[in-house]
Amino acid sequence: MTLDELELQCRNCKKCALCEGRTNLVFGVGKKDADIMLIGEGPGENEDLQGEPFVGRSGKLLDKFLESIDLSRNKNVYIANMVKCRPPQNRDPKPEEQDMCIQWLREQFKIIKPKIIICVGRISAQRLISPDFRVTRQHGEFIEKGGVLMMGTFHPAAILRNPNNKELAFADWLKVRDKIEELGIEVES
Ligand code: URA
Repeated sequence: MTLDELELQCRNCKKCALCEGRTNLVFGVGKKDADIMLIGEGPGENEDLQGEPFVGRSGKLLDKFLESIDLSRNKNVYIANMVKCRPPQNRDPKPEEQDMCIQWLREQFKIIKPKIIICVGRISAQRLISPDFRVTRQHGEFIEKGGVLMMGTFHPAAILRNPNNKELAFADWLKVRDKIEELGIEVES
């Protein structure tokens, strides 16, 4: 199955109640066989309206971090979320909603086959790295899981709320750049 075929199937998903409120399903965006994949939390208002992850204010900040290490959704990374439909009032996705949606994400992993997964924020880090993951304590640490390197970092929305963390987040993205070099991953420019 290709990523496009998977997306077509996903567009009809009604596995959880979040489908009732969606304007657009937000499947993911970027290079279809990217070595680096980012996983956020879930679509917000702008993402729901445009059908693309991270297109609002926090998305602009995320794009800046990526750009600073020569990465971009238009060239060499793939970006998706833990849930593909917008939770009402931008609340955290519930565990049972994530349980339903993670099946789609797993299929995305299988097709894209990333070498590095960056969990953007607590929700995806707790679900994909470890249930007790604390961003403030463990951000920037790489761990290997099933042959894939995983790292959790600050969510850009959290940085917009607390700009003190911007430097720490930037340092995390520099670690991503170093890891890409260390592993000899060729990213398209
Ligand atoms: N926050 C997220 O976690 N994902 C998005 O797509 C937008 C905002």
